[in-house]
Formats: sequence, structure tokens, C-alpha cells
Amino acid sequence: MTTKNRASVLYQVRYAVQNPTKVPGYARRLARDLILRLRSRDHVTYYRGVMRSDATRSAEAAVGSKSHARWLALGKMQFDYLVEHGFKPDHRMLEIGCGNLRAGRLFIDYLDAGNYYGIDISPDILVAAQETLVSYGLRDKLPHLTPVRDLRFAFLPDAYFDVVHAHSVFSHSPLHVIEECFAHVGRVLAPNGFFDFTFDRTEGEEHHVLREDFYYRTETLVALAERHGLKARFMADWEKRRHGQSKIRITHA
Ligand SMILES: C[S@@+](CC[C@H](N)C(=O)[O-])C[C@H]1O[C@@H](n2cnc3c(N)ncnc32)[C@H](O)[C@@H]1O
Repeated sequence: MTTKNRASVLYQVRYAVQNPTKVPGYARRLARDLILRLRSRDHVTYYRGVMRSDATRSAEAAVGSKSHARWLALGKMQFDYLVEHGFKPDHRMLEIGCGNLRAGRLFIDYLDAGNYYGIDISPDILVAAQETLVSYGLRDKLPHLTPVRDLRFAFLPDAYFDVVHAHSVFSHSPLHVIEECFAHVGRVLAPNGFFDFTFDRTEGEEHHVLREDFYYRTETLVALAERHGLKARFMADWEKRRHGQSKIRITHA
């Protein structure tokens, strides 16, 4: 959780003075932002470009892990929490923004064969996801991995998924992308299903940095879900995991 506006010039100058080693990386992202902004017609195209550039360097870093140990730990953190909060092997799961299966590999291993559906806007990261399947010996679980352009889920059946999961996806999404998801997720969610997602929480002004990192107030997302006939609950016990993001669980109202 933050109260600071990371997009403000004052914040950025102070941060640069305190963290001089991070300046070259930020300058590189700034230059990329300018190029991608000129080339991209919408946010999904823009972010697909971010993922292409990041995944070319390292798929694990592209999903936000600075080391393989962190990649393993972040996957386990998601998996353990879900199992403690109602996730069962016979569930049918949709993972939005599955990345290179940091948690997905554990979900796939746990679920009955064929019950995992991972979607992502980045073809590059889905290729890396296939490599994860091979490395962890998960072929026989026959998971579905599908590239998407939007979050309308038009190709998926009604009332099908017991669990929908999106970790570190809305932290990279403008509000209209989240709203598109809320407008359509209720159709694919089973009657007793739940949809867990993380977000970067601010208690100050909502803002974004370079269209890559978005900060929302809890009440904005709760109200948005309610406008689409969904019930949203802040998962206070997730905060204890010290992941940095917050979590909301959505169910049918
Ligand atoms: C930080 S990574 C997290 C990946 C995975 N959830 C994990 O925890 O390892 C965010 C992922 O979400 C994907 N993504 C971003 N916006 C998306 C959108 N609107 N729809 C689907 N996937 C999206 C990105 O391509 C990327 O793979």
C-alpha cells in the first residue's frame, strides 16, 4: 500500500537521488514508453510491447521476479493462499495473465487434468509458459494456454470456472481494462465460483507510472465490481504475506 503519488515529479526526483543505481533502468523504460506510445493503438498493444521487450531479456524478470528464487517463492505464495482459501483439485480454473506459469505450474500440477485455462495478451510469455510446462513435466495435465486481445472471454462457456485468478495483472491495467473484465467475468464464473485478483493499492491519489504500473483505491474497485452485479471483498489476511500488492475476492452478488 502507498499514499505517495509515484508519478509526481517531486517523488521521482527524490527517488532518483536516493536510488542513483535505478536511474539508467528508469531512463530505458522512459524511452521505451515513448516509442511504444507512438506505435500502439491501445493499452493492450502497448503492454504486449512491454512484455515482448522484457521477455526477450528474461521471462522470469518479465513477470516481476528479480531471481529464480523469487519466481519460485511468488508462485508458492499464490498457490498456498488459494489452497487455504477454498481451491480444490477438481475445480476448473481460469488464470488471467498467466505469464510464464510462475504460479500456474503449481495450479496445473494440483488440478485434475484439463482443468486449467491460462490466458495472456503476450504471445512471447506464452511461449515461455510452454517451456515451463516442459521443465516441470506437466504435459500430461493438458493445460490450455491461449493468447487474448481483450478480457471479454467470448470463447469460453457460461458458468464454467470455479476459480478465476489474476495476480499482478490489474497492477498493470488501466481502469477500462479492469471494467471490461468485471463486465464479462460474471458470465463465465460458476454460481459458487470466486475471482481473486491483486492490485497496487493507494490510499492517496490514483495514478500510473509509464502506463506500466497503476495504483487504485480499494473503494474504486469494489464500487466498479458492484456496478457489474458482483460482490467484492477485501482480503485483509493477504496483507500479512507482505507481497506488496493487495487482494480482492469477487463473487456473484
Ligand atoms: C506481472 S505478470 C504476472 C504473471 C502471473 N500472473 C504471475 O503471477 O506470475 C503480468 C502478466 O499479465 C499479462 N497481462 C497484462 N495485461 C493483461 C490483460 N489485459 N489481459 C491478459 N493478460 C494481461 C502480462 O502479459 C503478464 O504476463
